[in-house]
Amino acid sequence: MLSPKIEEALNAQIKIEADSSQFYLAMASWAESEGLNGTSRFLYLHSDEERAHMLKLVRFVNERGGSAVIPALDAPPHTFDSLNGVFEKLLSHEEFVTQKINELVHICLEEKDYTTHNFMQWYVSEQIEEEALARTIMDKLSLIGNDKGGLYLFDRDLELLVPQDNAAAQ
Ligand code: FEO
Repeated sequence: MLSPKIEEALNAQIKIEADSSQFYLAMASWAESEGLNGTSRFLYLHSDEERAHMLKLVRFVNERGGSAVIPALDAPPHTFDSLNGVFEKLLSHEEFVTQKINELVHICLEEKDYTTHNFMQWYVSEQIEEEALARTIMDKLSLIGNDKGGLYLFDRDLELLVPQDNAAAQ
């Protein structure tokens, strides 16, 4: 059984994951409208991945005798300045998600809920991978700068880069 505090924290995380999915969907759609097909494919998959993170939490809350709340979503921006701007926002959003996951893990310890603590370890590992991937992409973009040929190759390379959770499904 979940304590009210844990249930509330897990429901807050459900909203964060759903908002993340919506945010990356907006980025994917923008990239597609800019003709950045590799980038948009990558971001569409990333958006799907965030929805999977949300679903995993929904099912856990319900299985543990709680009641998952399906939230209203914040409207994401629908336009972005540049590819650099997109991935800067993605990285800082992932850093925010990591902070929220860490806070949730801390609440699990305070509440002595070791089952939820164990469940949350998957998210802790996932955040390490997601932040590392976003930093790798930012490093590539800063090497490329404004070189059009480099950006073309970057977009093509991103088409081949499949987010971790989707790799098995390809
Ligand atoms: Fe589910 Fe990218 O955090």
